[in-house]
Amino acid sequence: MTSQPQTSFQPETVPQLDMSSQYAAIGGEIRTAVERVMASQQFVLGREGMALEEELAKLCGVAHGVGLASGTDALILALRACGVHAGDDVLLPPFTFVATGSAVSALGAKPVFVDIRPDTYNINPAELERRVTPRTRAIVVVHLYGLAADLDPILAFAKSHKLPVIEDNAQAIGASHKGRRTGSLGEAGCVSFYPTKNLGAYGDAGMVLTNSAELAARIRSLRNHGQAEKYLSSEPGWNSRLDEIQAAILRVKLRHLSSWQRARQSHAAEYHRLLSAIPGVMPPLAPEGFEHVYHQYTIRVEKRDALQRYLADRKIESTVYYPYPLHLQPLYSALGHQAGDFPHAERAAQEVLSLPMYPELRKEQIARVVEVVAEFLKC
Ligand SMILES: Cc1ncc(COP(=O)(O)O)c(C=O)c1O
Repeated sequence: MTSQPQTSFQPETVPQLDMSSQYAAIGGEIRTAVERVMASQQFVLGREGMALEEELAKLCGVAHGVGLASGTDALILALRACGVHAGDDVLLPPFTFVATGSAVSALGAKPVFVDIRPDTYNINPAELERRVTPRTRAIVVVHLYGLAADLDPILAFAKSHKLPVIEDNAQAIGASHKGRRTGSLGEAGCVSFYPTKNLGAYGDAGMVLTNSAELAARIRSLRNHGQAEKYLSSEPGWNSRLDEIQAAILRVKLRHLSSWQRARQSHAAEYHRLLSAIPGVMPPLAPEGFEHVYHQYTIRVEKRDALQRYLADRKIESTVYYPYPLHLQPLYSALGHQAGDFPHAERAAQEVLSLPMYPELRKEQIARVVEVVAEFLKC
């Protein structure tokens, strides 16, 4: 009997996200920008932050940007500036990162969940009517994974009920909806610059985008202890000031955002092309008129957990965003929800899997990921 030849070939790890390769490409520019802040010795609310506010507002087509300490703060302060108080209800999808809900809870308001569309994972506008209550004060939409929510019917509903729409644009900077950038369509667009985002800082940072001068002024005051002028406070606020080092880093990265976005879109097209031949996988949908920026490339498969283990055993990283919908989180047990209340969110939580996606991803890595997915589905 002849023994099987032993192969020494070890496939390389395919990371879900590789931030080092981005730093290797732009490290020189970043260090110059950080050095500029050091030389200025101004570390909060300075020239870099103001310039970033202008540059991002311009990119998204809004009049004002207000730099903050995080995306969570952007949601809290936008909701507060839109008039949400303790005891109010706020409509939002249950399939999102917990920050969308905890921002509502931080104000003492109650999250009222609205199920998602099973094809886009975003809030289903057709469900708004049956969830709205006499206490509803705002709607938060999330542009999950980099795809805009279905805004036309949502904005029409909001208008007829005189409700502000707050866009949780943490994952979709640069995306657009019928030619208009996400973050510019509601009363306020909330941006997160968490390091792993498409435009990520090297620490925490965030921003509110808005066309309302009044809202922008109120958030500027709230981010700095409610001071409308120096040492004169008119209401209780926070410290949510934007850090100058982060702003300087973000300005460097902003110059590269559109080319990184094109790279993500081209990787998505390659994944789509290869996955379309494999039954049992639902690739992400990008409806006509929606520009997806693929913060995540998220597929849907029935045996998701087994596929994730199979990929991991073959050194391919993947992540589940998010395994527990908000209404079933212990945080919200007092709301009394049960399994079955929001079936599309629950099913998505069991079936979604985000595959490796970052601008520097290589074609052969995508091919390897798809090869292993196909191998698994044939098992
Ligand atoms: C959908 C969503 N909302 C809100 C946030 C909160 O942003 P941050 O982490 O900057 O507070 C994040 C990201 O972390 C997010 O993905």
